[in-house]
Amino acid sequence: MPKNKISKEKSIRRTKTLTELFVCCVILAGAGYIIKSSVDNTNAVPSSQHIDDSGYDIDIPEPTEPDPNKIVFVSAPFNTKDKFSGDLILVNNQHEYFSSDNENLVSIMEKNDETERSFFTAVDYTYTILEPVYEPMAQMIEDFYEIYQNDTLIIYGSYRTREFQQQLYDSFTTSESGDEAPIVAMPGFSEHETGYAFDFSEIVNYDYQGTGDFEWLNTNCYKYGFIIRYAEDKETITEYRYEPWHFRYVGIPHATFMTRNNICLEEYIDLLRMKYPYEGEHLQLTDDNGSNYEIYFVASDDSSEITSVPVPTGVRYDISGNNVDGFIVTVHTDEKVDFGEENPSITTITNVTDTQETETTSVE
Ligand code: DAL
Ligand code: ZN
Repeated sequence: MPKNKISKEKSIRRTKTLTELFVCCVILAGAGYIIKSSVDNTNAVPSSQHIDDSGYDIDIPEPTEPDPNKIVFVSAPFNTKDKFSGDLILVNNQHEYFSSDNENLVSIMEKNDETERSFFTAVDYTYTILEPVYEPMAQMIEDFYEIYQNDTLIIYGSYRTREFQQQLYDSFTTSESGDEAPIVAMPGFSEHETGYAFDFSEIVNYDYQGTGDFEWLNTNCYKYGFIIRYAEDKETITEYRYEPWHFRYVGIPHATFMTRNNICLEEYIDLLRMKYPYEGEHLQLTDDNGSNYEIYFVASDDSSEITSVPVPTGVRYDISGNNVDGFIVTVHTDEKVDFGEENPSITTITNVTDTQETETTSVE
């Protein structure tokens, strides 16, 4: 073959190869662009709600501002032994009362004198109750009096020393017979030793069954933070006979939840531990007045003197031990607070509604 013909054929082949290469590159680039676009679109549009009616326009969301109402939690140190104190402690046959927060007791009759309340009384001036329990109790009776003009109520049992509980226990166990559940707790295991419980009677027959006018008290007591501790249908759990006269302070949100759901304190303490630990979903609650709460459980660190408890910043909260295995934190989500400069390094649980002030590490 002539030399010039060979070089012409070579030149044609090279041109053809180059053309094929170019076409391949164009196809590859096009495919790459299409794949990249579809991946980009997948990342930018998490769901079809961001695509408008025209079909393909992408609605890129505006960057969101931090929610000012979102509660930030910090870890605060509490004395582990404080799990035995507070208004949610469970005291029953299995859980002895160990604490001795009894310096905060007030005479019911002295307080009645001070506050000029004469529509109920106690057996005598020695009958005492924890100071923060007096006002909700008296307010409840005052509201009852306003409705029924009934001034026959008497506080027939309130705070008891262990020695007094022993005397009652001894006299009841010798006089009681039969298979009925008891009505007097063993010394050391009575709610009356905590100062959070009281018994009603009335001065006509010295009997209180929560019937007639008094039904109002047993039905509405949760609005003041009280529960009927030994309910008729909970005897197998509480291990006590129905006591319509025995009221126990636990605080409004907790009494509200227990009453609405017909559960006793034993069931409530178990529920919080199992279903509402800090790490999980918190119990959200709105009471009859429209106040909102968030409630959760934190296990105590029994290997240490100190337990770190996550608590909210900027809103009021209460903390109580459960007298079993940890703490219950109640966040009053509507009640903003402006914490002062001073934050104690280790907080102590005091009774009923004291707001703790702490700030350590964020545990959000
Ligand atoms: N009546 C209750 C059970 C008590 O004695 O504490
Ligand atoms: Zn009682």
